[in-house]
Amino acid sequence: MRKFDTELVRVLPDTARMDANGQLSVGGRPLAELASEFGTPLYIYDVATIRAACAAFRRGLAQYSGEASLIYAAKAYASVALFQLLAQEGLGIDCVSDGELFMAHYAGVPGERLVFHGNNKLESELELALRIGVGRLVVDNRDELELLAAIATAEGKTAAVWLRLNPGVEPHDTHAYRRTGQLDSKFGFPIETGDAERAVSFCQSCSALRLLGYHLHIGSQIFDLAPYREAIERAFAFAARMRDRYGVVPREFSPGGGLGVPYTPDDPMLDLTQAAAMLAEWVQAAARAWNLPLPRLYLEPGRSLVARAGLALYRVGAVKRIPGVRTYVAVDGGMADNIRPALYGARYVVLPGRFTERSAEQVTVVGKYCESGDVLVWEAWLPTPQRGDLVIVPVAGAYCLAMASNYNLARRPAVVAVEDGRVMLWQRRETLTDLIAREMVAAPKVTGIEFSPCP
Ligand code: LLP
Repeated sequence: MRKFDTELVRVLPDTARMDANGQLSVGGRPLAELASEFGTPLYIYDVATIRAACAAFRRGLAQYSGEASLIYAAKAYASVALFQLLAQEGLGIDCVSDGELFMAHYAGVPGERLVFHGNNKLESELELALRIGVGRLVVDNRDELELLAAIATAEGKTAAVWLRLNPGVEPHDTHAYRRTGQLDSKFGFPIETGDAERAVSFCQSCSALRLLGYHLHIGSQIFDLAPYREAIERAFAFAARMRDRYGVVPREFSPGGGLGVPYTPDDPMLDLTQAAAMLAEWVQAAARAWNLPLPRLYLEPGRSLVARAGLALYRVGAVKRIPGVRTYVAVDGGMADNIRPALYGARYVVLPGRFTERSAEQVTVVGKYCESGDVLVWEAWLPTPQRGDLVIVPVAGAYCLAMASNYNLARRPAVVAVEDGRVMLWQRRETLTDLIAREMVAAPKVTGIEFSPCP
């Protein structure tokens, strides 16, 4: 079993503390108390950790000589309360669907601070983006460029555009599903094939499009930053060619998101301030090398802002011991709220609700869904687990709830945030009635089943 030591602290929220009874608290609130109050599975966000990550990025960006902005990639985890918190911290929101645009707009984030990505934005999504005045439309391919030009022209509007460049650079230290910068990718205009240049030329010929700059995103959960440098250099070499051929000078530039975070104490860890400063330095150097003015720099982190701030709490329901083979510990969540182990082979640690001196046993922590692949952690150490125990999965703040499903008609968990001893319910647990909310066929009245919302 992991001890509550400096190694473990790397994967816990900044405010995590252990009391004399071996119980963890976050944001000044004991986790066991939150589990009793709100039920499990429960996702908990530590607001201080999110604010500290924003501040770390800001310190790094302060080393950039030009202007800089931080944009949160909503796909990591979307909620109205989180968007409002980040907007308060001065961030914009990067959206990839009408759903995310709608939520950000509903949360009160000004349109100017929204960036809209996606490799197949629907006509209706582009229309919505123009209607709510999205600050930057990141055009991904030729079909989209023509569609956007037609819509903007018809509506008598001008769309502020970045072109997403495909730099032909592949980050090798991440899962293949998370690489996007290589030529063989569905994302972006390849520089190599001339598509990116034709897109610039198209923008120049269309008065409804205002080409403000370039964007790239090479992948996600990346620790080796060298591919960013390569991609930035390729983007600026391209920008210089476009200046020479078409007189286009980018006023803005984004090298995307993708900074990796440790999920287990053995994983590497990036210093966010240093990483942001390094990206800023490479952009500065590339602009200087090509004699281009410093563009406004945008960074687009998702995971590195919220992953470690979030914890998942589960309750053990069953322990199955197969002597000489394996001990399965089944919890009340699993792949419906965290698909990452099944999808990417992602590794997590599991912590006991209470750290004790009891000797630890090696177990496999599984979910409650009808799949043998519904495993949260293959190799975990827990003090002789039994039904009713609480277990904690740290670093659950990014791409868990965001990718959650209603598989087996699971109800998505409640989400609370803690700060300075206060607890806020950000999202209530889904209810049984939520599960039939879209059903259009009348059914006989059911009696005897509790339909009231869970706490
Ligand atoms: N910008 C763009 C254009 C992106 O596509 C992404 C992530 C980001 C920013 C934010 O990347 P981050 O800083 O969060 O790494 N479901 C996967 C991750 C997919 C990331 C998709 N794009 C996972 O669970 O590991």
